[in-house]
Amino acid sequence: MKQNTKPTLEICLTPDAVSFIDLTGKIAVIVDIFRATSTMVAGLANGVEHIIPVANVADALHYKSEGYITAGERNGEKVEGFDIGNSPFEHMEQESQKIVMTTTNGTQAIEAVKNTAEQVIIGAFSNLKAVTNYLKTQNKDIVIVCAGWKGRFNAEDSLFAGALALKLKNDFWWEGDETLFASHSYTSVKKNLLKILKHSSHYKRLEEKGVEKDMEFCLEMDKFDNVPILKDNFLVNS
Ligand code: MLT
Repeated sequence: MKQNTKPTLEICLTPDAVSFIDLTGKIAVIVDIFRATSTMVAGLANGVEHIIPVANVADALHYKSEGYITAGERNGEKVEGFDIGNSPFEHMEQESQKIVMTTTNGTQAIEAVKNTAEQVIIGAFSNLKAVTNYLKTQNKDIVIVCAGWKGRFNAEDSLFAGALALKLKNDFWWEGDETLFASHSYTSVKKNLLKILKHSSHYKRLEEKGVEKDMEFCLEMDKFDNVPILKDNFLVNS
C-alpha cells in the first residue's frame, strides 16, 4: 500500500527516458559520475564562483568574451579551443573563476530537465552525504537522473543512484523497478566499486586517455559537503 505521507523517489536510468516522467514540482538529481557531476562538485567546493552548463560548444564559446573559462569535453577529450577539459583536478584549480561547461552527457542531462523540474541539483559520490541531507530537508518528490552515455544506460551513474536511494530509503517512497534494481546492484558491488567499474565502458574509454586518477577521484566518498543547485542557469552551491 502506498504511504502517501512520504515524498517519492524514482530513478531515471537514461536521460532519454526523462520524457516518461512528470518532473513538475520535483527535484531532479543529475548524476554523471565519470566525470561531469563529480567535476562540478569538486570545482564549486574549491572556490569556482559559478558554472553555466550549456548543451553545445558554440554556446560555450560565446561566454569566452565575457571572461568565462571554457570547460568540457566531447567523447572524453577536451574540446579544441577550450581552456580546460573535464578533469576534476583542472576544475579545482579555478578558484574565483566563472566557468561555462559543456559535456557529452552531463550537461545534456541538465538541459533535459531544467525547464520542467522544480529544482535541479548535482550529485556525485564525493557529495553523497551532503545530497542526502539536503534532500531530507526538502520534503519534495525526487527523480535521480543518470546521464549515461549518449542516451544509453551506464553502470557508474546507476550504482550511484542505488547508493542515494538506499540512503533515503526511510524517508521516501520508492517508485519503479529501477530503484529496486539499482539499490540491489549497489549493495552487491559497493565493497569493490573501483574493481567492478574498471570493466565499465566509460572507464575503459577514459583509461585509453590516461586519466585513471580522475576515475579514482570520482569514486571517493563524501570528500565535499557542497550541493550544487541550478539557479537561473547558474550552478552554485546551495
Ligand atoms: C560526460 O558528460 O559525458 C562525461 O563527463 C564525459 C567525460 O568523462 O569527460
